[in-house]
Amino acid sequence: MSKKEAKYQRLFSQLEALLSKETSFISQLATINAVLYHKNPGYFWIGFYFVQNGRLLVGPYQGPVACQELEYPKGVCWASVLSKEEIIVKDVESFPDHIACDSRSKSELVIPMVNEANEVVAVLDVDSDKLNNFDKTDAAGLTRILSLINTKLLNDYVKANKF
Ligand code: SME
Repeated sequence: MSKKEAKYQRLFSQLEALLSKETSFISQLATINAVLYHKNPGYFWIGFYFVQNGRLLVGPYQGPVACQELEYPKGVCWASVLSKEEIIVKDVESFPDHIACDSRSKSELVIPMVNEANEVVAVLDVDSDKLNNFDKTDAAGLTRILSLINTKLLNDYVKANKF
């Protein structure tokens, strides 16, 4: 196991314990952000964008103030929503229509999240102030951490808020 894989294993175990409590969808997202932001020096910003009524609106996050809404269909987050694929951007300058909420962000990783109907309802977005900070190991580690989110809490929240 690489050092990076071992780090994500530790983060998974810590979050598994924290998220085992009966809370809420937003409590779980906020906890994931707090743990990952403070345990990963390479993370400049981490947060969730929600697909709500055809708009992409910021949810819980940690880091500098971010765009509240991402203009359709620009940028990495919309590309991930529309393709249903994770996207690793080694250099944000090279991504057409990239939305720069903060000019210090240099590289980025976006992972889509789906509901019970397999529709993308949110994305996890992680930014770094270093070029080429993210690779497949980060994507796999974060995807595994997202699997800790209680699917009933997610589906109930999405329905109640008419995503
Ligand atoms: N860069 C993202 C926008 C969100 S910020 O990075 C927080 C994008 O192009 O979708």
